[in-house]
Amino acid sequence: FGVHAIFFFFFLILSSWWTEVQMGPPDPILGVTEAFKRDTNPKKMNLGVGAYRDDQGKPFVLNCVRKAEAQIAAKKLDKEYLPIGGLAEFSKACAQLALGPDNAVLKSGRSITVQTISGTGSLRVGANFVSRFHNVSQDVYLPKPSWGNHTPIFRDAGMQLKAYSYYDPKTCGFDFKGALDDISKIPEKSVIVLHACAHNPTGVDPRPEQWKEMAALIEKRNLLVFFDMAYQGFASGDIDRDAWAVRYFIEQGHNVLLSQSFAKNMGLYGERVGGFTVVCKDAEEAKRVESQLKILIRPIYSNPPMNGARIASTILSTPELCKEWLVEVKDMADRIIKMREMLVSNLKKEGSTHNWQHVTDQIGMFCFTGLKPEQVERLIKEFSIYMTKDGRISVAGVTSANVGYLAHAIHAVTK
Ligand code: LMR
Repeated sequence: FGVHAIFFFFFLILSSWWTEVQMGPPDPILGVTEAFKRDTNPKKMNLGVGAYRDDQGKPFVLNCVRKAEAQIAAKKLDKEYLPIGGLAEFSKACAQLALGPDNAVLKSGRSITVQTISGTGSLRVGANFVSRFHNVSQDVYLPKPSWGNHTPIFRDAGMQLKAYSYYDPKTCGFDFKGALDDISKIPEKSVIVLHACAHNPTGVDPRPEQWKEMAALIEKRNLLVFFDMAYQGFASGDIDRDAWAVRYFIEQGHNVLLSQSFAKNMGLYGERVGGFTVVCKDAEEAKRVESQLKILIRPIYSNPPMNGARIASTILSTPELCKEWLVEVKDMADRIIKMREMLVSNLKKEGSTHNWQHVTDQIGMFCFTGLKPEQVERLIKEFSIYMTKDGRISVAGVTSANVGYLAHAIHAVTK
């Protein structure tokens, strides 16, 4: 070997295409699971990611899902590509679930629903669509706070991120006045993101009369409404009640965008099944929008996966399965409500004198405890109880067996 060869050899070892790539932080939500998995404490609890567990702390596959899977398997269906917009029966059932089967919008054909890769995929397709076609404004207003993934989804789609008041830390409830004040100042034609129900991360939803005032103000400001409905059925246990705000806004003439997920309400997390709907002026506009959604989707993932969509559409279109599903959704919602009550009564038993009423007032999968970052840090370090830094706990990860331990630990860091 000559000197040149040796230099070249060292050059190969030392150089790389990616030397400039900085180490990134772990995901604020999914990173919690990674840390939890590394912990060897047998008492450890993962209250980070929003994923339902049964009262034994086990992941839960719904009976209706098992039955739908068996029906699908028996049909020996092929595995050809789905169309770009997904399984047509699924999209129809998905829109009907959100809007209600008798909704005039569906009857007139002035909406378009495409199957998406769960709620995140739906939001991203929606964000890309808005970014490409809503040329009058690229500003998107999120509630303060909002789901951690909303920010990168809209930012990566090229939108400008803004925020409106939503949560009041003093009451651990809805800051209705702050929200109205801020919304009244949002520049016309901007996009506003609304959580349809079971607001993530706070578990705080507006009441119907508050939604009504918001709808009227949003109409006055001429804002484009983007609903994120990731928890239909999971807030109250009733799918119609949880879809009330979406249906009300549409009834009032808002041509909304809507993201849906079947991760939580059907427990289809890893199947990645969701939908994106655009309510349009008329059927002709809906056709044009559909054509552009397909053009957007094709270069990203070509077409969506079929398994989850088959399961969800089988459940929604088979009356016995659908009936069973509604009972199972309610059971999941009820178990969470029960855990909230047990957490509060155990905190009292521990001797905590704080007001924990927000724990039972808030609804859905999450409780925004009001714990400070230092307290969260202690819960993780001293008790192996994992949660996101903002003090959000996934109540779905609490069980009759560990709620006492959780209350004990929370009391220890808040007294
Ligand atoms: C959550 O907020 O924990 C869930 O929506 C799951 C996720 O993807 O972040």
